[in-house]
Amino acid sequence: MALITKAIRGTQDVLPAESYQWQYIEQTALQVAREYGYREIRTPVFEHTELFQRSVGETTDVVQKEMYTFDDKGGRSITLRPEGTAGAMRLLLEHGLHNEVMPVKVAYNTSCYRYEKPQAGRLREFHQFGVECYGAASPMADAEMIALAMAVLKALSVEGVSLHINSIGCPTCRAEYHKALKAYFAEHEETLCETCRGRLERNPMRILDCKSPVCSEIAAKAPVITDYLCDDCAEHYAAVQSYLTEAEIPFTLDPHIVRGLDYYTRTVFELVSDSLGAQAVLCGGGRYDGLAQEMGGPSLPALGFAMGLERLLMVLKAQGAQFPEPPTCDVYFASMGDKAARRCFALARMLREGGVSAECDTVGRGLKAQMKYADKIHALYTIVVGDNELESGKANLKDMQTGELTEIDLDESLYTVLYNKSLDRQMAAMTQLLSESMEENG
Ligand code: HAM
Repeated sequence: MALITKAIRGTQDVLPAESYQWQYIEQTALQVAREYGYREIRTPVFEHTELFQRSVGETTDVVQKEMYTFDDKGGRSITLRPEGTAGAMRLLLEHGLHNEVMPVKVAYNTSCYRYEKPQAGRLREFHQFGVECYGAASPMADAEMIALAMAVLKALSVEGVSLHINSIGCPTCRAEYHKALKAYFAEHEETLCETCRGRLERNPMRILDCKSPVCSEIAAKAPVITDYLCDDCAEHYAAVQSYLTEAEIPFTLDPHIVRGLDYYTRTVFELVSDSLGAQAVLCGGGRYDGLAQEMGGPSLPALGFAMGLERLLMVLKAQGAQFPEPPTCDVYFASMGDKAARRCFALARMLREGGVSAECDTVGRGLKAQMKYADKIHALYTIVVGDNELESGKANLKDMQTGELTEIDLDESLYTVLYNKSLDRQMAAMTQLLSESMEENG
């Protein structure tokens, strides 16, 4: 069989056998964010191109090389979002959320699109869990943001992650820094890649995150921003460090972190995993106090982070993480004959309405094939219904794990039986967990 097409390079399907892992990660992250006061937002997958040009920055790799940009049928330039911060800020300003009591805190699970060279941990369609906090200028907010990122990873039992922080100052200190960078890179102008030669005048800081090996080698010896911080920025950075120390969050000062996006000011940070290989940055974020104004809004301090969900899943799998059990079918009705099939169809609907998952034959299989199917979908219980059962109104509920049979009535009372069995199972699972944790703790 020749398929007419396959999934696009750099994209991934999520199969039924994996989707519960995604749900678990996304829900856990949102739940932790909720505990920190964040509420979910959802923004469109495409925006006006200008939004990303102005916020992410004209001279960034993302805007210059990686955006999926096209003209729609009305001739407007549209871009698939390469990240979530710009759209979240547009949402905030457009709907006047910044007029609410501060800080405003939002969270999202979102797909992003970047035309990058696909490799392990680097995709063209990928997913981020992100949070943004508006209206908090204090360095304590920076520390809290980092604590939230760590808390998400802790809730997911991710291990082997280290925190790297830096300050990239404000426009005041950056003016001096840009001069120093220009002077340094001008000496190497001939060797820089073409894109970076163009950046030399317009935005020399972007040369620091060029992915070309030649530029990276030159950038490694460039002056660092922390030597140019103004007094206010230096004080802010020191305070962030003191809050982190107080919260017993270990960190490494890394003056080479500049992040690949233009909107950042002051604190930037990355969480790096030791089990990811080349694409080791699991989470990146920082403060971006100038973005609201850049987008035509008021002066508004802001900060946030985003973590890559594919990378998170890779780390969890590499660490042999146990995900919660995928949901299975509670009860499968096997039927013999049309009359029995109709009864099973009605009983299955009755159970589903009460939240019990139930399936019955919809493809006209024989009994043996139906039982095989029940096995395949890991049904917890099966009920066989034929002429005898229809006549007596009674059938056997078979526990597929133990083989135990329980006589049941083929009516509404079946719901109570299955509900009680589900309670028993939950109780047994909790008792097991408790005894395991007691054993672990001696
Ligand atoms: P970012 O560092 O560009 O920051 O992306 C955040 C995370 O998304 C990365 O650490 C990585 O885990 C994941 N990621 C990025 N590109 C790819 C890719 N091509 N394939 C797979 N995963 C990827 C931002 O996007 C900022 N908006 C974060 C932020 C929010 N800053 C403030 N608020």
